[in-house]
Amino acid sequence: MEFSKVIAARHSVRSFKDKPVDREVIDAILDQTATAPSSKNSRSSVFMVIDDKDTLLALSEMRSSGSALLKDAACAVVVLGDTSKTDLWIENAAISATYIQLCATNLGLGSCWVHVNGRLRDKHDPSKGLAEDYVRDLLAIKDGFKPLCIVALGYEA
Ligand SMILES: Cc1cc2nc3c(=O)[nH]c(=O)nc-3n(C[C@H](O)[C@H](O)[C@H](O)COP(=O)(O)O)c2cc1C
Repeated sequence: MEFSKVIAARHSVRSFKDKPVDREVIDAILDQTATAPSSKNSRSSVFMVIDDKDTLLALSEMRSSGSALLKDAACAVVVLGDTSKTDLWIENAAISATYIQLCATNLGLGSCWVHVNGRLRDKHDPSKGLAEDYVRDLLAIKDGFKPLCIVALGYEA
């Protein structure tokens, strides 16, 4: 797709068809995203692709609002930063997530950014803890890697 059309077409998609996305399409998105700029070429962004329905359902329950759309996504990419590589992992991860969304649009997929870093699971009940801790436990994320966000992907309903 022409670049200006990709920019114009990208929008947040929160409702998806019940149609899988070929792994080749996800791999193409991640290969293109790997070319994104990063501070001092630190390449701190790491991606976890989730297409297991039970795990997507569990991720959709990460926050009391703003994450429910993940349950109907065909898959999701958890965008993490390797904090050992740079103090600017958040900036790098945000650029990576943006690339994922634009590459997804170019390949005919809808997407939505679902935020993790710094968010409470329930802003009205801090005792439920942080979204980051929920994701870390669910996906067994190692120390030193921090999730910035989850990008939901799928064909727009
Ligand atoms: C940093 C960031 C955090 C976001 N967090 C969420 C989120 O948790 N849940 C959600 O449904 N959308 C989230 N979004 C999507 C925004 O709501 C959306 O981009 C914005 O409303 C503009 O709409 P558009 O993407 O269709 O242009 C987030 C976007 C960004 C850039």
